[in-house]
Amino acid sequence: MPLSRRSLLGVTGAVAASSLLPRPARSASLAKIRIGLLLPYSGTYAALGHNITDAMKLAAHEHGDKLGGREIEWVAVDDESDPAKAPANVNKLVVGEKVDILTGPVHSGVAMAMMQIVREEQTLTLVTNAGAQAVTGALCAPHVFRTSFSNWQTSYPCADVMLKAGHKKVALVFWNYGFGQESMAAFKEGFLKGGGAIVKEFPVPFPSTEFQANLSELASLKPDAVFVFFAGAGAAKFVKDYAAAGLREKIPLYGSGFLTEGVLAAQGPAAEGIQTTLHYAEALPSAANKKFREAFKKATTREADVYAVAGYDTVNLLSVALGKVKGDTAARKELIAALETARIESPRGPFRFSRAHNPVQDIYLREVKGGQQRVVSVALKDAEDPAVGCALVK
Ligand code: BEZ
Repeated sequence: MPLSRRSLLGVTGAVAASSLLPRPARSASLAKIRIGLLLPYSGTYAALGHNITDAMKLAAHEHGDKLGGREIEWVAVDDESDPAKAPANVNKLVVGEKVDILTGPVHSGVAMAMMQIVREEQTLTLVTNAGAQAVTGALCAPHVFRTSFSNWQTSYPCADVMLKAGHKKVALVFWNYGFGQESMAAFKEGFLKGGGAIVKEFPVPFPSTEFQANLSELASLKPDAVFVFFAGAGAAKFVKDYAAAGLREKIPLYGSGFLTEGVLAAQGPAAEGIQTTLHYAEALPSAANKKFREAFKKATTREADVYAVAGYDTVNLLSVALGKVKGDTAARKELIAALETARIESPRGPFRFSRAHNPVQDIYLREVKGGQQRVVSVALKDAEDPAVGCALVK
């Protein structure tokens, strides 16, 4: 008999054996609901993982620390943003800890490994950041939802923004893994269609922050503008290095909003003038955003960002859906239907899922001015990911 995936992944005998037993039907009134957090708590994306986690716990607290009438048990694993460790980490939560619901990750490579396992194990999963197209595309599944964004949503709209600003010859700089590559493909889709040309691409190995050689080449290449993907600590470093190399005033810098999200204070004046596209902006004037930002600041002493928004919305959506089934996670069909039809007032704007289970959302054009992220306009209204290859979309 061929070895099962579980034994190949090195799950201990005891855990593997117990996982073969049927899942216990949990009493909706008594048992705590176990929510798995597969997130980075170390490395370049650590701050993102912490903000997602803290915002999830904030939302839970606002619901009396219960979902569907059940108390919550959080089970967290540091995924280190390492796709190679992802199968073991996902198995730890799904097979070992038998979480009722899995949430996370940040890194798209980790998400791809996670998708394989949760599809096999049929684990109800809410993706709280990773933008890999396949999550709500070719690998979409009835029990998988994404509360953040797809790659396409955050990068495609920036092409039109840059063309309208008169930039025709653009260079691309990005972390060279799934998300960075897809991000550039989505940008190019719009940019080439609109008559733009890519003068050069600069892939940087993840999570390297050695940018000097690329910055020197950019200086001599003199493109009209640069479009980039970096996030977290890497984004802070890139923006500072770009300004220190004297490029900030010479070659306008654009990107998906991750370039400045959560790192504006660290970037300081180096970020002035950067324009980005994203489904959230701290300056959105809605009451929901104001309330969320104040509550997050009070709870953590930190500023909220797009990562925190996804964590917060995840728990608010679960609250709606689990409320409908009175906490009974065994009522799968009803629970999935409740998530599909859930509507919440998110800090980003009204939230609803597409048929592929990805948010349908406005994409904002933002600009850093005076150390603040200003909203310039709505770059794309009601942006719905094309969900290429998703069997739920017929
Ligand atoms: C990703 O790998 O999907 C990702 C990581 C950080 C920010 C945005 C996307």
